[in-house]
Formats: sequence, C-alpha cells, structure tokens
Amino acid sequence: PRKIILDLDTGIDDTLALSYVLASPEAELIGITGTYGNVVVEQGVANDLNLLAMYGRDDIPVFKGIDHPSTTDSFSVPADSEIFHGANGTGNIEIPAHSDRKAQEESSVDFIIESVRRYPKEELAIVPTGALTTIAAALEKAPDIVDKIRIVLMGGSLTQPGNVGPFAEANINQDPEAANKVFATTADITMVGLDVTTQVQMSREDTESLRGTGTAIGRFLADMTDYYINITEQEEGVFLGGCNLHDPLAAAVAIDPSLVTTFATNLMVETEGPQRARTIGDPNRLTDKTKNTKVALSVDAERFTSQFMERLMSLATG
Ligand code: BDR
Ligand code: CA
Repeated sequence: PRKIILDLDTGIDDTLALSYVLASPEAELIGITGTYGNVVVEQGVANDLNLLAMYGRDDIPVFKGIDHPSTTDSFSVPADSEIFHGANGTGNIEIPAHSDRKAQEESSVDFIIESVRRYPKEELAIVPTGALTTIAAALEKAPDIVDKIRIVLMGGSLTQPGNVGPFAEANINQDPEAANKVFATTADITMVGLDVTTQVQMSREDTESLRGTGTAIGRFLADMTDYYINITEQEEGVFLGGCNLHDPLAAAVAIDPSLVTTFATNLMVETEGPQRARTIGDPNRLTDKTKNTKVALSVDAERFTSQFMERLMSLATG
C-alpha cells in the first residue's frame, strides 16, 4: 500500500478525507500532522484524535504542527472558516467518541522530515489540506528532503476564481508566503485545487444513505456533511444539492494519480496587493526545463465520487 501522511486543519472535508483514507485498502495512514486553518491547531488535533478513536484506529500517531502563519505570531480562525466548518470544525456536530490520547511529543516538522528520509517517494505521499506553514518549515529545516518528498496538496486554483476572494483559495490564503516557498522548491508537487475540487460533490442523497445505516458513524458523517451542504447553499447561493469534496479528492489523487490529468508548470504565489494568495505561473521560471508542479485540471468525477461513497458506506456500516 501507499503510505500517506495527512496534514489536516480538521474541518468537515478534512474529516471526510481522513475517513476516505482509512477506508482505502491501497493506503496506509502512517500519521496525521495537525495544521491550522478551519480551526486552531489544538482543536484540529483534538478532532483527529477523537475521529481515530471513533474508527478504532488509536494506533495512528497524531503530531502537532506550527500553529500560526510564518509572517505573524498568532492565528485566529477567519470568520468564513468558522461559518463553513462550525466552531468545532465538524459543523457543530459532536464526534461520537472521545479519546484520552495526546498528540505525540515530537513535532510535525520532525515527523515529516524523518518519514521522507525513511521512505522513497514512490511509497510515501504527504497530503496537506490546510495552511502550508509546517510543510514549508520542514523543507527549510531539512533541504535534503526536497528531492525526496512527494506532496499532493489541496489548495490554489489556476482556472477557477478563488473561494475566499476573487483570486484566493482558503488554504493558500492562510499563509501565502509559506505556500510560495513550497512551490519555489524543486519538490515533486501535485496541486489539487479548485480547478478539480469544484467538480466533485457529495449530495443530500449521499448523506441520506449514510444516515440510513443507523450507526453512530453513519449519523455523524451525515449530520456533519448536511451542515456543510446547507451552509454552502446559504453562503454561496449555489444550489449544487451538495458540497464540494476538496480534501478527499487530494487524498484520493495521492493514492491513485490516474483520477486526474495534470499540467506541468512552475508556480508561484502572489504575496502582494489585491491578488495576494493567487497561484500563478512563475514568470522567472518559464524557460526552466524541469517543471516541479503538476496542476490537476480535469478529474474522473464519476469514478472518484462513486468510490468515495462506497468507502464511506463501508465505514458507516462497520
Ligand atoms: C479548503 O479550505 C478549507 O476550508 C477546506 O477544508 C479545504 O481544505 C478549500 O478551499
Ligand atoms: Ca482543509
């Protein structure tokens, strides 16, 4: 199986991504590193531990990452994130399990560095689904891992408008400077951004199926996702009859890259002015022979969403 490290800011779609990975026989989740974004790090890590307890997977270690952007000394959850994910990150629905476990002593930064040194990149993928601060710090602290790491991140957009501004996607927007540092390295990056994540949805029929299992897990996943569907309709005024599966798609691409087609390029993140946080081609690296970022531009939505629901249903039915 492919080893996966999820770097989560555990909100609703992060929870769905974690669930999907646990239900994927091709994947082995070797650790969760907690970042900030939808929630503060402490809340995200608490959610991770409780979710793992809910799934009976207390064997998986959880690490705490950097808790604030690289350019400020503190972080508070943006109003938008709190609206979309609820104050607790899971749509104000309580996770039906409580863990007494604590996060590991070791930091996320060191866990990522050690794991990348240990496993070849064909075997391990790092999947960031929140702010990129911890990933940037790991690459900076251990430059030797740059050419060994495989990153499949949820964030950014090349062809679609942003979701927290005309150009800005939420995860990149949490720490544009850190994201820019990550893209500027020669690391092997696959960007699963709004270009493709807005093409994959979970519907109210899907949440009904989960609820229909009658299990605590099924009800939790259904109630939490209904919150996300409702808030998306209210706030964005788009009636998809569903919600986007941003983070689950990134996790799925890490496990099975054939779900998307990609375009190789060198990206930068704008850090100034009204286009701050925009992911865009780097004009200084246009003629470089090696293009380190593969941007996902189309997705086999049907194959992904049906497999996603099948796997969630298997978790819910136990
Ligand atoms: C991303 O922002 C967060 O709110 C979601 O969890 C996802 O990672 C979507 O832009
Ligand atoms: Ca996320």
